[in-house]
Amino acid sequence: MNGMAIYPSLENRVVVVTGGATGIGEATVGAFAGQQAQVAFLDIQDGAAGKLIERIEGAGGKTPVYYRCDLANIESLQGVVAEIVARFGTVDVLVNNAGNDARHTVEQVSPQSWDDTMAVNLKHQFFMTQAVVPAMRRAGRGAVINMSSISWVIPSTNVPVYVTAKAAIVGMTRTLAHELGGDNIRVNCVMPGAIVTERQKRLWLTEEYKAEILKRQALKRLIEPEEVARLVLFLASDDSSAITNQSYVIDGGWV
Ligand SMILES: NC(=O)c1ccc[n+]([C@@H]2O[C@H](COP(=O)([O-])OP(=O)(O)OC[C@H]3O[C@@H](n4cnc5c(N)ncnc54)[C@H](O)[C@@H]3O)[C@@H](O)[C@H]2O)c1
Repeated sequence: MNGMAIYPSLENRVVVVTGGATGIGEATVGAFAGQQAQVAFLDIQDGAAGKLIERIEGAGGKTPVYYRCDLANIESLQGVVAEIVARFGTVDVLVNNAGNDARHTVEQVSPQSWDDTMAVNLKHQFFMTQAVVPAMRRAGRGAVINMSSISWVIPSTNVPVYVTAKAAIVGMTRTLAHELGGDNIRVNCVMPGAIVTERQKRLWLTEEYKAEILKRQALKRLIEPEEVARLVLFLASDDSSAITNQSYVIDGGWV
């Protein structure tokens, strides 16, 4: 793949990425650091986070800051956002990326597991946004990018609560875009298809599933996390200054 575009508007912007230690989040943290943005990322995988910071420093990116935070704990994420604002002065960009696509049948869902699945896939996206809005209002600008999925469109099975959360993220994006547009805060959504992260390779990417992906996609190759990160960069930059309220599919032409 060719080198990344450079977005001058992203230099020194304060960018918060949730679930930034691995997968699409990891690629996103690396992409923003390569733009010399100041990234703060939240995750629970300390080892992967440390290795990512080393790799970014080795590649000449701006050193990101890692915060250990279980996003299911709302008080904890509110505390981390307060720390980030105290340390860097503001938040310019929020990428609500963290999620967990653990498989579950309809029969397995209990009231507790429903709440837990919503907590790791939906609830933190709202409360992270709520937490960064005061700083964005003071700055008179902001960009929020919410990670959804094509899973609720194709549709997928064996992940009914996850899919419900991913569909809700599109609706949440559209109402928050209108709630916050008056403050020049843009809210957009990204809907990835099958992206070959390490977790996907380890857990779900069987030969059969790979054949299914290639059959469904227009492009006959697998899509990389860095390709999603490129779309996120654009939506975060001033080059997308008139774009808000939208959801962008990036799936090699599946849906
Ligand atoms: N990979 C795909 O094919 C694909 C497709 C569609 C949508 N997505 C979405 O993209 C986003 C990233 O997915 P990914 O494939 O990179 O997943 P991933 O599992 O590789 O990365 C998710 C990251 O979020 C972190 N995380 C999970 N729960 C957390 C919690 N409670 N607190 C803090 N951090 C937590 C994990 O530790 C991990 O680093 C998710 O929202 C996912 O739903 C992925």
